[in-house]
Amino acid sequence: MTEMQCGRSCLAIILAAGEGTRMKSRRPKVLHEVAGRSMLGHALAAVAQAGADEIVVVIGPDRADVAAEVATVLPAAGVVVQVERKGTAHAVLAAREALARGHDDVIVAFADTPLVRPETFAALRRAVGDGAGVAALGFEARDPAGYGRFVVRDGALEAIVEHKDASEAQRAIMLCNAGLMALDGRHALAILDAIGSANAQNEFYLTDAVAVAVARGLKAVALTAPEVEVQGVNDRVQLAAVESEFQRGRRREVMLAGATLVAPETVFFSVDTRIGRDVVIEPNVVFGPGVTVGDGAVIHAFSHLEGASVGEGASVGPYARLRPGARLARNVRIGNFVEVKAAEIGEGAKANHLAYIGDATVGAGANIGAGTITCNYDGFLKSRTVIGAGAFVGSNSSLVAPVTIGAGAYVGSGSVVTKDVPADALAVSRARQIEREGWATTFREKGAASKAAARVKTPE
Ligand code: UD1
Ligand code: CA
Repeated sequence: MTEMQCGRSCLAIILAAGEGTRMKSRRPKVLHEVAGRSMLGHALAAVAQAGADEIVVVIGPDRADVAAEVATVLPAAGVVVQVERKGTAHAVLAAREALARGHDDVIVAFADTPLVRPETFAALRRAVGDGAGVAALGFEARDPAGYGRFVVRDGALEAIVEHKDASEAQRAIMLCNAGLMALDGRHALAILDAIGSANAQNEFYLTDAVAVAVARGLKAVALTAPEVEVQGVNDRVQLAAVESEFQRGRRREVMLAGATLVAPETVFFSVDTRIGRDVVIEPNVVFGPGVTVGDGAVIHAFSHLEGASVGEGASVGPYARLRPGARLARNVRIGNFVEVKAAEIGEGAKANHLAYIGDATVGAGANIGAGTITCNYDGFLKSRTVIGAGAFVGSNSSLVAPVTIGAGAYVGSGSVVTKDVPADALAVSRARQIEREGWATTFREKGAASKAAARVKTPE
């Protein structure tokens, strides 16, 4: 992905002790998701890809849920608690033990800023590798209110001044602090320890690392990123804005990698969606986490896929739902209103209309008729249905699992199959049909007569 900073060790500290009150949520802000992954998960992935060999997440007190997310996403990462919120520098110092290990580079990331690319963290590291004591990331803000401002003189970064501490002249500066930073690991602890809290908010500002470094004769450099990349999330409107930006970027990547999106703005990807070449994705398709689509497959309109793999040349939808564990081999056809869950569908097999295939194995070339249901659940346990290669399941059949339909067997339409069907056999379990000649004529005559008699008795 990104080039590693050859030979340099790197500590990444991710600040995740935010209050997030503006989310109006029971869930901590950093666990809200963008493209199917928590914002914290995005930050972890980005710093890991930027080559961090030690990662520490700073969380607030009583945040077992955030610690659990770290353990799930990246078990190798450490977690430390910032007991009191006393500012960003104070938060970074919660990772003192890791800082004291003396890595070459230290990068600081915010867990509520999920779109920062690994390349951007790598660029900050490179600036440190090239001799800067501190490298800070800035952006040209459309509306700079609230952000720290970069004070640059003769091309050198001198200080970052928080909005609340800034003079009128400084508030006119449009180059704002994104918050992310890299520090030279040999000086990081000394710089952080020298930061005081004599400011408008009585907080220990990480941003003061710049002035402290400069005062010590170290070089501070400013790097810039587009504003969209560094936008943070404080409320759900900003969460939606970040989601939308992610989707815009991913659609572009998918198209440039050789897939056709007929109406890109209506297709939604997860961060881990993998789409092959010459795939066609029709409008209004949603990819939940864990989906892979092979070359040449077509995902028709209004389909929803999650935890599924779609083989080369397969066709899905319109209006299909692939749930976790759906594995479609090459050239499988899953049609409208078909749901597949925890089922392997063999090469070229078809379920074209209105079916539920759950906890099943379907052999190559099998044909599942309209309205077929695998009855996989008895209220307590799930059981499996096995359908052999080339079997033909007639429309509106209920396959009561556990049950096996042998290869090449036929199941008559409307059957309720409760016993295994041998290969190449026919199973029919519906009631036998009877015919009564002339029955309908007699029925109609009798019906008309009774209606006429009723009318005579009760005149209007
Ligand atoms: C910070 C920067 C500001 C920058 C802005 C960009 C400082 C002092 N200011 O301001 O220059 O323009 O981000 O969005 O760094 N956090 C903790 N513990 C704390 C305080 C903060 O973990 O005690 C975490 C927050 O959860 C958040 C991040 O640090 O993820 C930034 O904190 P926040 O309070 O949002 O900083 P800003 O005032 O926005
Ligand atoms: Ca903020």
